[in-house]
Amino acid sequence: MKKAWMTLLLTAFMVAAAGCSGGGDSAGGSTGTDAGGQAAGGTETPKIGVAIYKFDDTFMTGVRNAMTAAAEGKATLDIVDSQNAQPTQNEKVDLFVSKKYNAMAVNPVDRTAAGVIIDKAKAASIPVVFLNREPVAEDMNKWDKVYYVGAKAEESGTISGQLIVDYWKAHPEADKNGDGKLQYVMLKGEPGHQDAELRTKYSVQAIQDAGIEVEALAEDTAMWDRVKGQEKMQAFLASHGDKIEAVLANNDDMALGAIEALKAAGYFKDGKTMPVVGVDATAPAIQALQDGTMLGTVLNDAKNQGAATVALASVLAKGETPTKENTGYDITDGKYVWIAYKKITKDNIADAQ
Ligand code: GAL
Ligand code: CA
Repeated sequence: MKKAWMTLLLTAFMVAAAGCSGGGDSAGGSTGTDAGGQAAGGTETPKIGVAIYKFDDTFMTGVRNAMTAAAEGKATLDIVDSQNAQPTQNEKVDLFVSKKYNAMAVNPVDRTAAGVIIDKAKAASIPVVFLNREPVAEDMNKWDKVYYVGAKAEESGTISGQLIVDYWKAHPEADKNGDGKLQYVMLKGEPGHQDAELRTKYSVQAIQDAGIEVEALAEDTAMWDRVKGQEKMQAFLASHGDKIEAVLANNDDMALGAIEALKAAGYFKDGKTMPVVGVDATAPAIQALQDGTMLGTVLNDAKNQGAATVALASVLAKGETPTKENTGYDITDGKYVWIAYKKITKDNIADAQ
């Protein structure tokens, strides 16, 4: 009895003590999103300003969350939304400069505008790591404290084309009109984005390389967006209907939108089906693989892209040069970190989780 009371008292005391220290002064080691206005010094973790092209993007939300997780105990991140406007992003960069942050990570709104950001960063001597939207080589060469973390867009295009090839070879009935050619429609991401241009090109290339003749029935941009993907697919169905034999989408959100439009048109029941492929391997896409509506996707590794960006920015923030040893990632040509893509179907879902 006495022992039980003692335990209870001790527990109460511990809870109170924990409450006290938690509510007290949070000197050092802050992992909050507001990095404050002071330059890091002494034992403080480096402060990194992070500008994302827009928060309302499924894949970039995954990268953002991965960055926050990776920064735990390593760096203090100030993550801001550029709201899909380059002028807004430039203002955010000015703010990072005025706050004297130790490094920046920028996911450009317009990748061709990276030069302006590099000029600002260089003038303030704040190293910058770009991610997801690759600046042109000319800009990357402007300063030696400029890095890029991303994935090889060609690779994801090739893999998504191969998903269609595998299906075509295993399902002779996929050639609905029996003309020996694959009639497809393409949902493109944002024009000018390396992932949109190269996924479009290399997915079709992979199908042709497998000896399959193709015919593009329609191609349009749905700007990485699910609702737009649904609308464009509705339009494709209205003009081409049953002639469509495959749907290629540059990302999962657009593929999922297309699947909605297909469902509304009577697909995915009573034996009526359509091979649809995307890229990213987001949670709803994995669900669609499980449901049998999405044929396959390509893992765009948000976790490693976020972690590599934080690793590079943290090292740069301390005035050091990123290497495999201090970041855990291979640095190619002195400034690029390439994260590999991976083919995902219902057979290896675990690889994407
Ligand atoms: C791509 C991704 C898209 C979108 C885009 C934003 O890599 O596949 O879903 O997030 O980046 O730049
Ligand atoms: Ca055909």
